[in-house]
Amino acid sequence: MFWERFFVSFTKPLRGPSMAWPDGEPYEDHPRGTLKSGKEAEIFLLERRFATSGPRLLAHKRYRPRYPGKDELREKGFSNSTLYRGDAKYKAGWNLRSRDRRAIEAGNRSRYGHELAAQLWPMQEWEMLRRAWEAGVAVPYPVERSEDGLMMEFIGDEEQAAPKLAQARLSADELASAWEQMGEALRALTSAGLVHADMSAYNLLWWKARLVVIDLPQAVEFTTNTDAFDLLHRDVANVGEWFGRRGVEVDVEALYAELVTMAWLG
Ligand SMILES: Nc1ncnc2c1ncn2[C@@H]1O[C@H](COP(=O)(O)OP(=O)(O)OP(=O)(O)O)[C@@H](O)[C@H]1O
Ligand SMILES: [Mg+2]
Repeated sequence: MFWERFFVSFTKPLRGPSMAWPDGEPYEDHPRGTLKSGKEAEIFLLERRFATSGPRLLAHKRYRPRYPGKDELREKGFSNSTLYRGDAKYKAGWNLRSRDRRAIEAGNRSRYGHELAAQLWPMQEWEMLRRAWEAGVAVPYPVERSEDGLMMEFIGDEEQAAPKLAQARLSADELASAWEQMGEALRALTSAGLVHADMSAYNLLWWKARLVVIDLPQAVEFTTNTDAFDLLHRDVANVGEWFGRRGVEVDVEALYAELVTMAWLG
Protein backbone atom coordinates (compact mmCIF):
# COMPACT_ATOMS: atom_id res chain seq x y z
CA MET A 1 0.00 0.00 0.00
CA PHE A 2 1.03 3.57 -0.67
CA TRP A 3 1.36 4.69 2.95
CA GLU A 4 3.56 1.72 3.81
CA ARG A 5 6.25 2.92 1.46
CA PHE A 6 6.48 6.40 2.85
CA PHE A 7 5.83 5.48 6.47
CA VAL A 8 9.51 5.43 7.36
CA SER A 9 10.06 9.03 6.31
CA PHE A 10 7.40 10.17 8.75
CA THR A 11 8.58 8.35 11.85
CA LYS A 12 9.69 10.92 14.34
CA PRO A 13 12.76 10.90 16.53
CA LEU A 14 12.14 8.86 19.66
CA ARG A 15 12.30 11.72 22.05
CA GLY A 16 12.75 15.43 22.06
CA PRO A 17 11.20 18.78 21.30
CA SER A 18 11.46 18.16 17.56
CA MET A 19 8.74 15.55 17.82
CA ALA A 20 5.71 17.24 16.37
CA TRP A 21 2.37 15.49 16.75
CA PRO A 22 -0.07 16.66 14.10
CA ASP A 23 -2.58 18.13 16.53
CA GLY A 24 -5.87 19.24 15.08
CA GLU A 25 -5.39 17.41 11.80
CA PRO A 26 -8.23 15.07 10.78
CA TYR A 27 -7.42 11.39 11.06
CA GLU A 28 -8.85 7.90 10.90
CA ASP A 29 -7.89 5.12 13.32
CA HIS A 30 -7.36 1.59 12.08
CA PRO A 31 -6.95 -1.26 14.57
CA ARG A 32 -3.93 -3.44 13.91
CA GLY A 33 -4.52 -6.10 16.54
CA THR A 34 -3.29 -6.99 20.01
CA LEU A 35 0.33 -6.28 20.75
CA LYS A 36 0.72 -7.65 24.27
CA SER A 37 -1.56 -8.97 26.90
CA GLY A 38 -0.43 -8.07 30.41
CA LYS A 39 -1.77 -8.71 33.88
CA GLU A 40 -4.31 -5.90 34.09
CA ALA A 41 -4.21 -4.29 30.73
CA GLU A 42 -3.83 -5.16 27.12
CA ILE A 43 -1.83 -3.24 24.54
CA PHE A 44 -3.43 -2.80 21.15
CA LEU A 45 -1.64 -1.52 18.09
CA LEU A 46 -3.43 1.23 16.25
CA GLU A 47 -2.63 2.99 13.04
CA ARG A 48 -3.72 6.61 12.97
CA ARG A 49 -3.88 7.91 9.41
CA PHE A 50 -3.61 11.69 9.34
CA ALA A 51 -5.01 13.57 6.39
CA THR A 52 -1.75 15.20 5.36
CA SER A 53 1.00 14.08 7.76
CA GLY A 54 0.67 10.39 6.97
CA PRO A 55 0.22 7.45 9.34
CA ARG A 56 1.58 6.99 12.87
CA LEU A 57 1.52 3.86 14.96
CA LEU A 58 0.04 4.13 18.42
CA ALA A 59 0.06 1.79 21.39
CA HIS A 60 -3.36 1.78 23.03
CA LYS A 61 -3.11 0.45 26.58
CA ARG A 62 -6.57 -0.58 27.78
CA TYR A 63 -7.41 -1.74 31.29
CA ARG A 64 -9.77 -4.68 31.47
CA PRO A 65 -13.11 -4.34 33.26
CA ARG A 66 -12.84 -5.89 36.70
CA TYR A 67 -16.26 -7.54 36.76
CA PRO A 68 -17.04 -8.15 33.12
CA GLY A 69 -20.50 -9.33 32.15
CA LYS A 70 -20.93 -12.44 30.09
CA ASP A 71 -19.06 -11.99 26.78
CA GLU A 72 -18.09 -8.43 27.73
CA LEU A 73 -14.34 -9.04 27.54
CA ARG A 74 -14.61 -10.62 24.12
CA GLU A 75 -16.97 -7.93 22.85
CA LYS A 76 -14.54 -5.25 23.93
CA GLY A 77 -11.70 -7.07 22.20
CA PHE A 78 -9.83 -8.32 25.28
CA SER A 79 -8.27 -11.74 25.31
CA ASN A 80 -7.95 -12.96 28.90
CA SER A 81 -8.91 -12.38 32.48
CA THR A 82 -7.74 -9.81 34.95
CA LEU A 83 -5.48 -9.84 37.94
CA TYR A 84 -5.47 -6.61 39.88
CA ARG A 85 -2.61 -5.25 41.92
CA GLY A 86 -3.92 -4.63 45.41
CA ASP A 87 -0.88 -2.99 46.97
CA ALA A 88 -2.18 0.00 48.91
CA LYS A 89 1.34 1.41 49.01
CA TYR A 90 1.04 2.88 45.53
CA LYS A 91 -2.31 4.47 46.16
CA ALA A 92 -1.22 6.61 49.09
CA GLY A 93 -0.89 9.77 47.01
CA TRP A 94 -4.14 9.42 45.13
CA ASN A 95 -6.41 12.35 45.61
CA LEU A 96 -9.65 10.67 46.65
CA ARG A 97 -12.86 11.45 48.43
CA SER A 98 -12.92 9.67 51.79
CA ARG A 99 -15.53 7.11 50.73
CA ASP A 100 -13.39 6.28 47.73
CA ARG A 101 -10.23 6.10 49.79
CA ARG A 102 -11.86 3.65 52.22
CA ALA A 103 -13.09 1.58 49.31
CA ILE A 104 -9.67 1.48 47.70
CA GLU A 105 -8.00 0.60 50.99
CA ALA A 106 -10.46 -2.22 51.50
CA GLY A 107 -8.82 -3.73 48.41
CA ASN A 108 -10.09 -7.14 47.41
CA ARG A 109 -12.97 -7.10 49.82
CA SER A 110 -15.01 -4.48 48.06
CA ARG A 111 -16.45 -4.62 44.60
CA TYR A 112 -16.91 -0.86 44.60
CA GLY A 113 -13.23 -0.44 45.49
CA HIS A 114 -12.20 -2.69 42.66
CA GLU A 115 -14.31 -0.92 40.11
CA LEU A 116 -13.03 2.41 41.29
CA ALA A 117 -9.43 1.23 41.10
CA ALA A 118 -10.06 -0.04 37.57
CA GLN A 119 -11.06 3.49 36.56
CA LEU A 120 -8.28 5.15 38.49
CA TRP A 121 -5.31 3.16 37.18
CA PRO A 122 -5.61 4.50 33.62
CA MET A 123 -6.13 8.02 34.94
CA GLN A 124 -3.09 7.63 37.15
CA GLU A 125 -0.97 6.20 34.36
CA TRP A 126 -1.96 8.99 31.99
CA GLU A 127 -1.08 11.62 34.55
CA MET A 128 2.29 10.04 35.36
CA LEU A 129 3.19 9.51 31.70
CA ARG A 130 2.34 13.11 30.89
CA ARG A 131 4.38 14.45 33.78
CA ALA A 132 7.32 12.21 32.95
CA TRP A 133 7.20 13.32 29.32
CA GLU A 134 7.09 16.98 30.32
CA ALA A 135 10.08 16.44 32.62
CA GLY A 136 12.09 15.13 29.68
CA VAL A 137 12.10 11.46 30.68
CA ALA A 138 12.49 9.07 27.72
CA VAL A 139 8.91 7.75 27.74
CA PRO A 140 6.52 7.19 24.82
CA TYR A 141 4.80 10.41 23.77
CA PRO A 142 1.43 10.61 25.58
CA VAL A 143 -1.17 11.06 22.84
CA GLU A 144 -4.53 11.02 24.61
CA ARG A 145 -6.73 9.31 27.16
CA SER A 146 -9.37 6.86 26.05
CA GLU A 147 -12.40 5.51 27.83
CA ASP A 148 -10.59 2.59 29.44
CA GLY A 149 -6.96 3.50 28.98
CA LEU A 150 -4.50 5.70 27.19
CA MET A 151 -2.88 6.07 23.80
CA MET A 152 0.80 6.69 23.39
CA GLU A 153 3.53 6.61 20.82
CA PHE A 154 4.31 3.07 19.72
CA ILE A 155 7.99 2.26 20.20
CA GLY A 156 8.95 0.09 17.26
CA ASP A 157 8.25 0.07 13.56
CA GLU A 158 6.16 -1.71 10.96
CA GLU A 159 8.21 -4.88 11.40
CA GLN A 160 8.54 -5.18 15.15
CA ALA A 161 7.80 -3.77 18.55
CA ALA A 162 10.80 -2.64 20.59
CA PRO A 163 12.06 -5.51 22.75
CA LYS A 164 12.10 -5.24 26.52
CA LEU A 165 15.57 -4.52 27.85
CA ALA A 166 15.50 -7.96 29.48
CA GLN A 167 15.15 -9.56 26.05
CA ALA A 168 17.30 -7.28 23.92
CA ARG A 169 20.79 -8.61 23.38
CA LEU A 170 23.01 -5.66 24.13
CA SER A 171 26.75 -5.51 23.51
CA ALA A 172 29.04 -4.31 26.32
CA ASP A 173 29.07 -0.81 24.81
CA GLU A 174 25.31 -0.75 24.48
CA LEU A 175 24.93 -1.92 28.07
CA ALA A 176 27.16 0.92 29.24
CA SER A 177 25.11 3.40 27.23
CA ALA A 178 21.84 1.94 28.52
CA TRP A 179 23.01 2.34 32.12
CA GLU A 180 24.00 5.93 31.35
CA GLN A 181 20.51 6.53 29.94
CA MET A 182 18.99 4.82 32.97
CA GLY A 183 20.72 7.36 35.20
CA GLU A 184 19.39 10.20 33.04
CA ALA A 185 15.87 8.83 33.20
CA LEU A 186 16.03 8.42 36.99
CA ARG A 187 17.38 11.96 37.43
CA ALA A 188 14.66 13.42 35.22
CA LEU A 189 11.94 11.47 37.03
CA THR A 190 13.32 12.50 40.42
CA SER A 191 13.50 16.14 39.40
CA ALA A 192 9.83 15.88 38.42
CA GLY A 193 9.14 14.62 41.96
CA LEU A 194 8.27 11.11 40.78
CA VAL A 195 9.33 7.54 41.52
CA HIS A 196 8.46 4.90 38.91
CA ALA A 197 8.10 2.22 41.62
CA ASP A 198 8.21 -0.76 39.23
CA MET A 199 11.47 -0.09 37.42
CA SER A 200 12.99 -3.22 35.97
CA ALA A 201 14.39 -4.63 32.74
CA TYR A 202 10.80 -5.65 31.95
CA ASN A 203 9.47 -2.11 32.01
CA LEU A 204 12.23 -0.69 29.86
CA LEU A 205 12.33 -0.93 26.09
CA TRP A 206 15.44 -0.83 23.91
CA TRP A 207 14.99 0.71 20.50
CA LYS A 208 17.59 2.19 18.13
CA ALA A 209 20.15 2.54 20.89
CA ARG A 210 17.63 4.33 23.11
CA LEU A 211 16.29 3.24 26.46
CA VAL A 212 12.58 3.99 26.90
CA VAL A 213 10.72 3.82 30.22
CA ILE A 214 7.17 2.41 30.13
CA ASP A 215 4.42 1.19 32.46
CA LEU A 216 3.89 4.04 34.93
CA PRO A 217 0.49 3.52 36.61
CA GLN A 218 2.05 2.73 39.99
CA ALA A 219 4.42 5.73 39.97
CA VAL A 220 4.30 7.79 43.18
CA GLU A 221 5.22 11.31 44.27
CA PHE A 222 7.77 12.21 46.94
CA THR A 223 5.38 14.80 48.34
CA THR A 224 2.36 12.56 48.84
CA ASN A 225 3.74 9.07 49.42
CA THR A 226 5.73 8.22 52.54
CA ASP A 227 7.12 5.08 50.86
CA ALA A 228 8.55 7.05 47.93
CA PHE A 229 12.18 6.90 49.12
CA ASP A 230 11.98 3.14 49.79
CA LEU A 231 10.42 2.60 46.39
CA LEU A 232 13.13 4.70 44.78
CA HIS A 233 15.80 2.61 46.49
CA ARG A 234 14.14 -0.56 45.29
CA ASP A 235 14.02 0.81 41.72
CA VAL A 236 17.68 1.81 41.72
CA ALA A 237 18.73 -1.51 43.30
CA ASN A 238 16.62 -3.52 40.81
CA VAL A 239 18.05 -2.00 37.69
CA GLY A 240 21.50 -1.54 39.23
CA GLU A 241 21.75 -5.25 40.00
CA TRP A 242 20.52 -6.16 36.53
CA PHE A 243 23.24 -4.05 34.89
CA GLY A 244 25.82 -5.12 37.47
CA ARG A 245 25.26 -8.80 36.67
CA ARG A 246 26.00 -7.98 33.04
CA GLY A 247 29.38 -6.47 33.79
CA VAL A 248 28.49 -2.78 33.96
CA GLU A 249 30.21 -0.89 36.73
CA VAL A 250 27.37 0.21 38.95
CA ASP A 251 27.23 2.00 42.29
CA VAL A 252 23.65 1.66 43.49
CA GLU A 253 24.15 3.53 46.77
CA ALA A 254 25.96 6.45 45.15
CA LEU A 255 23.23 6.88 42.53
CA TYR A 256 20.53 6.56 45.17
CA ALA A 257 22.24 9.18 47.35
CA GLU A 258 22.47 11.53 44.38
CA LEU A 259 18.76 11.10 43.64
CA VAL A 260 17.76 11.58 47.27
CA THR A 261 19.68 14.86 47.33
CA MET A 262 17.91 15.94 44.15
CA ALA A 263 14.55 15.06 45.64
CA TRP A 264 15.25 17.01 48.83
CA LEU A 265 16.44 20.06 46.97
CA GLY A 266 13.16 19.82 45.04
N1 LIG B 1 4.42 2.37 23.80
C1 LIG B 1 4.76 1.11 23.57
N2 LIG B 1 5.44 0.77 22.45
C2 LIG B 1 5.79 -0.51 22.22
N3 LIG B 1 5.51 -1.54 23.03
C3 LIG B 1 4.84 -1.27 24.16
C4 LIG B 1 4.43 0.06 24.49
N4 LIG B 1 3.78 0.01 25.68
C5 LIG B 1 3.78 -1.27 26.06
N5 LIG B 1 4.41 -2.06 25.18
C6 LIG B 1 4.59 -3.53 25.26
O1 LIG B 1 3.53 -4.08 26.00
C7 LIG B 1 4.03 -4.72 27.18
C8 LIG B 1 3.07 -4.47 28.35
O2 LIG B 1 2.99 -3.11 28.64
P1 LIG B 1 3.02 -2.58 30.14
O3 LIG B 1 4.25 -3.05 30.81
O4 LIG B 1 2.77 -1.12 30.10
O5 LIG B 1 1.70 -3.27 30.70
P2 LIG B 1 1.48 -4.27 31.94
O6 LIG B 1 0.03 -4.39 32.12
O7 LIG B 1 2.29 -3.84 33.09
O8 LIG B 1 2.02 -5.59 31.38
P3 LIG B 1 3.01 -6.58 32.14
O9 LIG B 1 2.16 -7.27 33.14
O10 LIG B 1 3.47 -7.46 31.01
O11 LIG B 1 4.09 -5.75 32.76
C9 LIG B 1 5.39 -4.12 27.39
O12 LIG B 1 6.24 -4.98 28.07
C10 LIG B 1 5.87 -3.87 25.98
O13 LIG B 1 6.40 -5.06 25.44
MG1 LIG C 1 4.89 -3.96 32.53
